[in-house]
Amino acid sequence: MLVTDTVILDGITTGVSTGSDPEQISRKSVLINMTSQIVPVITIDGPSGAGKGTIAQNVASELGFHILDSGSLYRLTALASLNADLDLTNESAISEIALNLPVVFKPTSSGLQILLSGKDVSETIRKEEIGMRASKVAAIPAVRDALLARQRGFLENPGLVADGRDLGTTIFPDAPLKVFMTASAEERAERRYKQLKAKGINANIAALVKDLKLRDEQDANRAVSPLKPAADAIQIDTTEMGIDEVTQMVLDLVKQRLA
Ligand code: DC
Repeated sequence: MLVTDTVILDGITTGVSTGSDPEQISRKSVLINMTSQIVPVITIDGPSGAGKGTIAQNVASELGFHILDSGSLYRLTALASLNADLDLTNESAISEIALNLPVVFKPTSSGLQILLSGKDVSETIRKEEIGMRASKVAAIPAVRDALLARQRGFLENPGLVADGRDLGTTIFPDAPLKVFMTASAEERAERRYKQLKAKGINANIAALVKDLKLRDEQDANRAVSPLKPAADAIQIDTTEMGIDEVTQMVLDLVKQRLA
């Protein structure tokens, strides 16, 4: 499915649960295996800046569903491993960090606050360099394994909207609705540029395009769970779409698939 109009940005952080207690996670994982057919999950995958985060947030709030911003878990792992001064080659130590991330997603009146070891890192993890490191740690198979149960731990009634790269292919392969959202690299860079500008941060569009393309390449070409649409995903090109239009389109799909 190809559609047209303009969406602004992903990167609005949402999320609801820590899924951080390992015992709770393993209990939930069992529950999920038994209930994945009845707790509805909508997956939204796609490259960085395609609008996944914004749309996931809108759809979740319209449906009253929980939300999982899976990229934030990779970003947190990237930040925590950087804080621990770990080299990217130290895969076992980074996976250990991913497994035990001391993170709390705290809803506040101004959005979701992300606390890592009690410190508010909501803004820090959105930095371009953390995104790039996240893409690198995400290529480590043991990191992906470490975050698997935690991601499934977000599945709770009345339902979940989960966005990332492999939610439809690996994390929730039985999801009744899978969306794969794309947009041209130039359009995605333009959105990122406007987002940074709005925050008073200087940016260079050419550098942003270069970074996005590099990240796409890393994410799409890694051996484990690469960025790619699930066979049964509905693809939406948001290059020329508006936020409301994409949100409505996904909500219409929800009506058809989850009725
Ligand atoms: O969606 P994002 O830009 O916040 O994600 C940051 C990085 O994390 C992204 O470049 C690749 C990785 N990631 C992943 O490999 N799998 C996911 N489900 C989500 C993110």
